[in-house]
Amino acid sequence: MERLDKLLANTGHWSRKEAHTLIKAGRVRVEGVLAQAKDQKVPAGATVTVDGEPLGPTGPVYLMLHKPQGLVSSTEDPREQTVLSLLPQHLQRLGLFPVGRLDKDTTGLLLLTNDGPLSHALLSPRRHVDKVYEVEVAGELDQADVAAFAAGMTLSDGYTCLPAGLEPTGPSSGLVTLHEGKYHQVKRMCAARGKPVTRLKRISFGPLALDSALSPGEWRPLTEPETALLR
Ligand code: URA
Repeated sequence: MERLDKLLANTGHWSRKEAHTLIKAGRVRVEGVLAQAKDQKVPAGATVTVDGEPLGPTGPVYLMLHKPQGLVSSTEDPREQTVLSLLPQHLQRLGLFPVGRLDKDTTGLLLLTNDGPLSHALLSPRRHVDKVYEVEVAGELDQADVAAFAAGMTLSDGYTCLPAGLEPTGPSSGLVTLHEGKYHQVKRMCAARGKPVTRLKRISFGPLALDSALSPGEWRPLTEPETALLR
């Protein structure tokens, strides 16, 4: 059971106050019956309509964003434009946050959700959720780099990485697969090989691949099967 005003506000379309106004104005129905009070309890799965239109999703929200360059992966920032600013107002009210971070100059797949427990599970170091990146470096990638990634390299701060995949796709480009997510990890691993990253794009996160229909800056909700895969 959920309070009617909370249910309306959870869609992100209205504040609680606006929800009260809608209810008072007789624009809200629960299972076809005119809503009486803002604190009316609504059973899970009940059909709620506003002006005859069924409510959109009221549970947790999961979005796939193709992060463009130049935006920061945080919810608020005093100086920089955040990834959340790409979303319409009603979604910005839902308490969404990025699942992990991509650097300001990194592009690609970023999940946004307001499901704290799922985000926590996906980021847990124990889970080893795979992330795949397309990388371009200054210099040429060789078999010694592949072997160093596979062995689990030690970074300049003494941290020893888990074994990682490096698959060259051209002289200066490759696919990097990480089973963990440390700060600036791909950049630091490539730098440790003397080959600084010049371009970085995440193309998959766990079971999800970046949707090729999304241009940088575009996003879409995850489908039900995609959400189930994440779980
Ligand atoms: N590794 C990095 O160095 N940067 C990112 O944005 C993601 C992984």
